[in-house]
Amino acid sequence: MLNWDDPLAAPVPRVPAAQNDAVAEPTAKYETTKPVPEANEITSDDQSASTSQSSAPATQEEVTTSDATTAPTKAQVAESVSTAPDLHIVETTTPSIAGSISTPLQQRRQAEDAAKPFTPMAPINPEDKRVVNGMGDINQLAPFKYPWAWDFFLNANKNHWTPLDVNMTSDISDYHHKLSDDERHIFENVLAYLTTSDILAMRNIGLAVMEKMTAPELQIYQARQVYEEALHTWTYQHCIETIGLDQSEIYNRYRMVPEINQKIQIGNRRLNAVMRPDIDLRNPDDLEEFVLSYTFFSGIFEGCWFYNGFSPIFALQRRGLMKGTAEQLQYIMRDEVMHCSFGIRVARQIMQEENVKLDPRDIRDMWDEADAAEEAYSKFLLPNPILGYSQQDHHEQFRFIANRRARQLGFEEPFPGAKNALPWLDEQSNMRKEKNFFETRVTEYQTGGALKWD
Ligand SMILES: [Fe+2]
Ligand SMILES: [Fe+2]
Repeated sequence: MLNWDDPLAAPVPRVPAAQNDAVAEPTAKYETTKPVPEANEITSDDQSASTSQSSAPATQEEVTTSDATTAPTKAQVAESVSTAPDLHIVETTTPSIAGSISTPLQQRRQAEDAAKPFTPMAPINPEDKRVVNGMGDINQLAPFKYPWAWDFFLNANKNHWTPLDVNMTSDISDYHHKLSDDERHIFENVLAYLTTSDILAMRNIGLAVMEKMTAPELQIYQARQVYEEALHTWTYQHCIETIGLDQSEIYNRYRMVPEINQKIQIGNRRLNAVMRPDIDLRNPDDLEEFVLSYTFFSGIFEGCWFYNGFSPIFALQRRGLMKGTAEQLQYIMRDEVMHCSFGIRVARQIMQEENVKLDPRDIRDMWDEADAAEEAYSKFLLPNPILGYSQQDHHEQFRFIANRRARQLGFEEPFPGAKNALPWLDEQSNMRKEKNFFETRVTEYQTGGALKWD
């Protein structure tokens, strides 16, 4: 059996207790005629073992000439795994691969282990789990309290893709030869906004939210979400590179354009408010701030600004333009629908479990601030309408989607009477597998429209 405290230490052969004297002579176990692996057969595991121990053999020559008692081969280790005794015998009777008997660190660890003998723990009660401030075990996945979170993780894994899967050929000629100046302005600035905002989304979930969760089934989906946000950033970069845009100019645009910068800064402010090291979710004010921030990111940043933010490029796609970029955004949109749905559900769960009552004035302020920023952004993006899409359409659709998110959050509609100005937009999030965007693969993915909005 391997010593999990020190996996590089040589395992000890399993022997009956009465034969313990034999353990003092482990050399016989390793005097084998089995061939040593060729140097070029060393796997990455082998290499890490070789390089992490200064006295471990690194080449075939060293292996064959070194003392076999201090350098068992991988085959020898494997042979011993099934017959080795319990873990704790190993350190006191067997030299490590490095040849040292016991380092000061090992001695200190042994002393600590001796001072704290193992005490069996009570089984986990799933009812002890909470989204935050829970008493469960963050390292133990089941029993679940939130099986729906695990389902999110399973569903997210049905949507594997990379930007390299999408054919971008026509986008290059479309951008350089077919788009009008107004359409190029829209296309570039949508990408400029998205590139920065998706990194912000990744930082929010990975740095501010995950660490506060106390149920592992929630963290696991969020870990996938972090990856997906990074994938989205790669996708924008792939589009920018493939089409031949000036990367520096595009990425710096949010620093230069106030209407883009304002949306990013709103997100930054919400994120920084809950990333501070002294935040304490047992403090009601801090907890309320965290819930507001998570509500903003899932309901507005992802649920409205992303959801609605792709639509100008979908409008081009509907006219047969920039189809590759639009397909990429459809895959991103599908992820974002799930992020929004998951975040809203988690926020509602926290409010229920922790009896959080958000101040209606804070909620109203959140919608108004987002609405004003989106209106300014839409005026910058669409100073002139393009075929089938106007600034008024964009702003009205934001309000229509905001009402939907508010209902899902259990809030009052912030913009009663807002019209569905872009009725085709929801179709973009309901990608059907029979549509088969990729000719090279079967697209067996869950559709955003199939998600349940409890
Ligand atoms: Fe994203
Ligand atoms: Fe997201």
